[in-house]
Amino acid sequence: MKIALGCDHGGYELKEAIKKYVTDKGVEVVDFGTHSTDSVDYPEYGLKVAEAVSQGQVEQGILICGTGLGMSYVANKVKGVRCACVSDVFSAEMSKLHNNANVLALGARVVGLGLGLKIVDTWLGAEFEGGRHNRRVDMITAVEDKYFK
Ligand code: RB5
Repeated sequence: MKIALGCDHGGYELKEAIKKYVTDKGVEVVDFGTHSTDSVDYPEYGLKVAEAVSQGQVEQGILICGTGLGMSYVANKVKGVRCACVSDVFSAEMSKLHNNANVLALGARVVGLGLGLKIVDTWLGAEFEGGRHNRRVDMITAVEDKYFK
């Protein structure tokens, strides 16, 4: 599995922890930065990861900022991206099972290290159930096609 990681200064420490955690489990990581706690603008990094997912360079992406919110707003503007901003394990799992999320957004200031890694583990291990959910995800894509040419 190959995933993209991206963060701003608020998410840098959790991004580094996630990178080590998933790499140790054999996941290939493309790290789009940022690479320090110096202040940066989250849209730049959210866009890089979302484009990598949209263009098929990686299968999935994980974004981390202070709240996860700004990153998720940016990622969900990119064609084909379904970004779930979650702070609990149940929502992380359901975002895959029912909504086929291909990007996860985390708030480092919300979840902290232990829960953040547990959410990542759950999300990467979950799979879209398909079936009746295909129709609903296709409806999301139809909205995207209507408003983003
Ligand atoms: C940066 O201070 C903060 O605004 C950012 O990390 C994120 O929480 C935005 O949504």
